[in-house]
Amino acid sequence: MKRLLPIVALALLLAGCGAPELSALNPSGAVAEKQLSLIILSISIMVLVFVVVAIIFTYVVIRYRERPGQEKEIPVQVEGNHKLEIIWTVIPILLLIVLAVPTVMTTFSLAEEAPEDAFWVDVTAHQYWWNFEYPDTNIVTAQELVIPTGERVYINLESADVIHSFWVPALAGKMDTNPDNTNKMYIETDTPGIYDGRCAELCGEAHALMNFRVVALEPAEYNNWVAGMQNFDEEVVSAQATEGRELFAQSCIGCHAVDASQPGLGPNLAGFAERGTIAGFLAKSSDNPEEADANLKAWIKEAQAVKPGNAMPNFLDLNDQELDAIVEYLNSLTLD
Ligand code: CUA
Repeated sequence: MKRLLPIVALALLLAGCGAPELSALNPSGAVAEKQLSLIILSISIMVLVFVVVAIIFTYVVIRYRERPGQEKEIPVQVEGNHKLEIIWTVIPILLLIVLAVPTVMTTFSLAEEAPEDAFWVDVTAHQYWWNFEYPDTNIVTAQELVIPTGERVYINLESADVIHSFWVPALAGKMDTNPDNTNKMYIETDTPGIYDGRCAELCGEAHALMNFRVVALEPAEYNNWVAGMQNFDEEVVSAQATEGRELFAQSCIGCHAVDASQPGLGPNLAGFAERGTIAGFLAKSSDNPEEADANLKAWIKEAQAVKPGNAMPNFLDLNDQELDAIVEYLNSLTLD
């Protein structure tokens, strides 16, 4: 029993890896489905080989074991048997062909050139956040890649600093983002929803916190989002939010634009109130606004403790009232 414990613990631990929203085994859309079928094909071939070898091995070990009191039985020796050698050379070749043909075909189909009128997004990875730019609609946003359903979304991947890797398991396999060249890929899904993404390349202290999301919207809703971002207007609703805006203008605006047409040094915050997370990974649930506000305050005050090594300085001088005002202001950044 004692020996089983680590195995049970490991099984429980690995079971946690199967969260459906972060699993390549739960694909949404053609890209992830094609990739999953390759995973299933290669695992099936491996399992087949393993089972056949294990059965022959077990049979031989039992059949030709040394029994007490009996004379040792030596099996027929087949060294140099041409027929057998041809069989066990041809079988692996056939298996490799079965694996290689669909793999090469899928790889080429996933690298197809984009058509003239393709929908493009420029993704730039930073330590430790994601910038998303839509050249056709002149929108900049961060941490949440909003896409329409039913459309192939072509992506230019770059990095502003070190190598990262763009990974949305339910939509597509990983692709590196490099500082000195542009990688291209595409994603597509017909199912509206939120798809979790991760940086999948060790890139520094807060690599594990470099999360993002893909938000897939029905085309009509997507168009509303575009219109909301393009006509984004800070509508400051309260005196506290007005105070927050002044503090934001003193401390934050140097890096964070709140106009969706302006790139900045840090994540663009247009429509921030509509996002599902803070800093890409802290809960910002509308079910529990108090917890979300507390997370946001902790983040602004001491970003280095929350996400070590990121480019945002701590603002330890801000008092509680000032932090509340900034939070109120950020929560007022909604889309119409
Ligand atoms: Cu970026 Cu890991």
